[in-house]
Amino acid sequence: MGGRKVYIMYVGILLYCFKRTGVNSMFIDTHMHEMTYSKDSILTLREMVERGREKGLGGICITDHDSMGIRDYAREYAAKTAFPIFTGIEYYSLEGDIVAFGIREYPKERVPAQEFIDLVKAQGGVCYAAHPFRNNNRGLEENLLKVKGLDGIEVLNGSTSKEACAKAALYAKRLGLITLGASDCHVPEKVGVCATYFPEEVKTEEEFLNVFKKGGLKPAYYQDGQYHIAGLERSLLPQYYTR
Ligand SMILES: [Fe+2]
Repeated sequence: MGGRKVYIMYVGILLYCFKRTGVNSMFIDTHMHEMTYSKDSILTLREMVERGREKGLGGICITDHDSMGIRDYAREYAAKTAFPIFTGIEYYSLEGDIVAFGIREYPKERVPAQEFIDLVKAQGGVCYAAHPFRNNNRGLEENLLKVKGLDGIEVLNGSTSKEACAKAALYAKRLGLITLGASDCHVPEKVGVCATYFPEEVKTEEEFLNVFKKGGLKPAYYQDGQYHIAGLERSLLPQYYTR
């Protein structure tokens, strides 16, 4: 076999292996609050990008409470820093919080979860239940079983107990929905404590939505200087969620 053929075969095998091992995969914190539009946050976008980068995140998502006001600034800042920032929303429906991406319009008042999900779908967006069993009455709880059209469930949330996360994981498994992890950060030390594994690199909102819709996302947590994909069994959830 000629040297050139061997070389081409070698490159082909390498590319195949890279694809198999997901070398272009990345971790994204998919639920975060910036102080301008989330009044309960003390985080600036700059701090979020810096801390996210330090931890090894490939991108961050700003999901302010009932607002997407940060979108233009986030787009500019992402371009300036060459760091992907996706703008979504954490919308407080009548039954609980839902995080959505890929939308332009959202209700200015609280509407039923199903109505919001339908609006997201009509715009080609995606949505997931945020911390469905957190003990602050802001999760969808048993309504997870009633609503139709959710893409996923947040099964690791940086501000939610291990028990509530484990219960969310059980529901995700039962419903066959995508599982995500996110910090839900409002303070600097929480940035990136949890994240979602994306099997492919995403840089634009379109890529983000495409990969999200394809599936293969997984919840992850940051420990000992790197991200680890979380097993969904209660016993495998990281110990620091015991609080
Ligand atoms: Fe949140």
